[in-house]
Amino acid sequence: MNDAVSFRPMTEADLDAVLNIEYAAFSHPWTRGLFLEGLQHYECWLMFAGTQQVGHGIIQLVLDEAHLLNIAVKPESQGRGLGLQLLTYLMGRANARQASECFLEVRASNQPAYRLYERYGFNEIGRRRNYYPAADGQGREDALVMACTLLE
Ligand SMILES: CC(C)(COP(=O)(O)OP(=O)(O)OC[C@H]1O[C@@H](n2cnc3c(N)ncnc32)[C@H](O)[C@@H]1OP(=O)(O)O)[C@@H](O)C(=O)NCCC(=O)NCCS
Repeated sequence: MNDAVSFRPMTEADLDAVLNIEYAAFSHPWTRGLFLEGLQHYECWLMFAGTQQVGHGIIQLVLDEAHLLNIAVKPESQGRGLGLQLLTYLMGRANARQASECFLEVRASNQPAYRLYERYGFNEIGRRRNYYPAADGQGREDALVMACTLLE
């Protein structure tokens, strides 16, 4: 495939397509309301492969700290390196906005995401017990906290 990857900022008009990917990718997706709020306060980005929207990511920037709040690749497009390209782009944005470190939380059971973050350079720095409702709806699940230094 020669589907070049590109990125552009998310707008309210994109939310139907974003929610399609979000609901397909997550057991506990962000709602439209959360995305609308996100558009006001955070950097919200879309990723395209050719003309097809294949993912999105959201980072919060507070002084020199970035927080990765959301990252998703459409299930049919996963496992092809798009997640790493999206994460790399988002970290580049954070760096351009003067962030020197990025933090995130990931479900303890989310191996694909954990591996992606490790591959990029994140390290596990802590655990928040019972942070998330469990993916199967039964009980709670721990969050692992990860951090990465963003180099120039
Ligand atoms: C986490 C997520 C964004 C990763 O996206 P992705 O596009 O699948 O990520 P990548 O393709 O870069 O990496 C995934 C795997 O594909 C492999 N891969 C990368 N490029 C590849 C290629 N060209 N060909 C084959 N496999 C490849 C990677 O090695 C990796 O394998 P591993 O996990 O066994 O090490 C995606 O799984 C997702 O949206 N999950 C649901 C939402 C979610 O959980 N988000 C994170 C919340 S904290």
